Amino acid sequence: MTDISSPPTNSERPDGWWRSAVVYQIYPRSFQDSDGDGVGDIPGITRRLDYLAELGVDVLWLSPVYRSPQVDNGYDISDYQDIDPLFGTLEDLDELIAGAHERGLKLVMDLVVNHTSDQHAWFVESRDPASPKRDWYYWRSARAGHEPGTPGAEPDDSPAAFAPSAWTFDPASGQYYLGMFSPAQPDLNWETPEVRSSVYEMMRWWVGRGVDGFRMDVINLISKPAGLTSSGPVDPGSAGFMQIANGARLDEFLAEMNREVGLEKNNLITVGEMPGATVDVARRVTDPARHELNMVFTFEHVELDKQEGGSKWDLADLPLPRLKGNLAEWQYGLAEAGWNSLYFDNHDQPRAVSRFGDDSPEHRVHSAKTLATVLHLHKGTPYVYQGEEFGMTNAPLTEIGHFQDVESLNYHTLATAAGVTEVEVLRSLTRKSRDHARTPVQWDDSANAGFTDGTPWFGVNPNYVGINAEDARRDPASVFAHFQKLIRLRHELEVVREGRFELLLPDHDQLWAFTRTLEAAPAGDEDQPRALLVLANCSSTPADLPADGLPGLAGAVLVLGTHASAPEEPRLAPWESRVIQLG
Ligand code: GLC
Repeated sequence: MTDISSPPTNSERPDGWWRSAVVYQIYPRSFQDSDGDGVGDIPGITRRLDYLAELGVDVLWLSPVYRSPQVDNGYDISDYQDIDPLFGTLEDLDELIAGAHERGLKLVMDLVVNHTSDQHAWFVESRDPASPKRDWYYWRSARAGHEPGTPGAEPDDSPAAFAPSAWTFDPASGQYYLGMFSPAQPDLNWETPEVRSSVYEMMRWWVGRGVDGFRMDVINLISKPAGLTSSGPVDPGSAGFMQIANGARLDEFLAEMNREVGLEKNNLITVGEMPGATVDVARRVTDPARHELNMVFTFEHVELDKQEGGSKWDLADLPLPRLKGNLAEWQYGLAEAGWNSLYFDNHDQPRAVSRFGDDSPEHRVHSAKTLATVLHLHKGTPYVYQGEEFGMTNAPLTEIGHFQDVESLNYHTLATAAGVTEVEVLRSLTRKSRDHARTPVQWDDSANAGFTDGTPWFGVNPNYVGINAEDARRDPASVFAHFQKLIRLRHELEVVREGRFELLLPDHDQLWAFTRTLEAAPAGDEDQPRALLVLANCSSTPADLPADGLPGLAGAVLVLGTHASAPEEPRLAPWESRVIQLG
């Protein structure tokens, strides 16, 4: 076991190292099973470290592996300082950390501290009104004039993200507690100083164990507005979270956490998941001068394919100008201060190639590569989600029995009860369910895609025979090979890391075009390119380069392309992309 009495020094984490890093997200339950119980586990991850090193990423982020009743697949934690037996032991995690470090990979833990599980000892204690931990959570009395525990007596009408109400009645104490996600995930009350100091102590313990940073779950919800949700109904979408997100003490809490845990002092990487955060909030929180977080996950670009004011299930088309315009807005907004995270895929989103690309056999490979090109050539820290690196697609989830996720099942129950037809509900689930991201990783074409020797907890996507990591690794023209090149470009080229971003052709509905420019050649390396042009046809039909709006391409050199075309070739094939060195 690692000696946790002597925390590692930060000598292996130079200042600002995360600005050139690529992060790979692992959803342990679906990554690799090692013991045949059908659920992915930590020894399974350790077994795949060479694969991750071969891909070339710098950091692994583990979705939660802590002890948990698994109501929300581990985002409901009952013990922050132990590992759920489903995933292994603390010793297994120590081995994973050591194995990662041996290969030069860093490891980031998911930090879920807006809420605990209702099985966490803190909450169990808090249920007693006389307990000193009563104010560690939000307890409220029934609405005036209503009998506690009766329908409609909840303190207000806020729904939870995964349940009809954000308030759950606790008969023993006669009061309600707040759970913005589900009754199994009561919200911690960060106004209580002991809550904060206990969280910081736990974080220090993990730092001592050798972790290199934290991905902070819905961290902008920790400061709730005074009066909480009494302002009225809260829609469970991110628009609704806006009403309780980004509270007045958010910056204070984040700066305090940074100081008390030594996040910056130890050169740890920090990324805050922030539903409802605007560019302005992100700039504030990630401005290095404020010592809060390195970067945040915005939700804006993954909420463009829904109807204005609706929930994620109210589907809408997404014209390309809206998507690229939104990413550009974040690039401009954080150009002078702060830092972007870059992602299309994660465990809460349908697969990018199915959602923003074209996952038909004809276009899947090129569209997966082109989406990656566009994302990885923006300025910020790119995140790769397991399977994205070889173009995993949405699964054929077409009837309610196919779904697993608490959010999807809750939506089905509520929407059908509200009169939405089964066909409509399924249409939304088939497009947007988080379950698409959670099918097991397709390692090879053997039984269960090499994920498990047992029965997988969730069905393997049947397309694994043709789409799997092993085939992709062997094929120099694969999506995997393209990701390797993109990651290498970021490591090698200063202009990819730090170049100024400018969006071109903002209204073009097929082409995503932008430049990245350094004001001066990097000191001591005058041969580095100072300007890149990225041209990407994000459509399944050919696209002609317009006569205006692009820099001249005389003398330009192709740095990386999905096709073998010359930089100035006037027509791009469907889902073709080119990274071009200018001048
Ligand atoms: C975050 C997680 C998501 C989880 C929720 C509640 O959005 O990414 O998976 O369900 O928070 O913890």
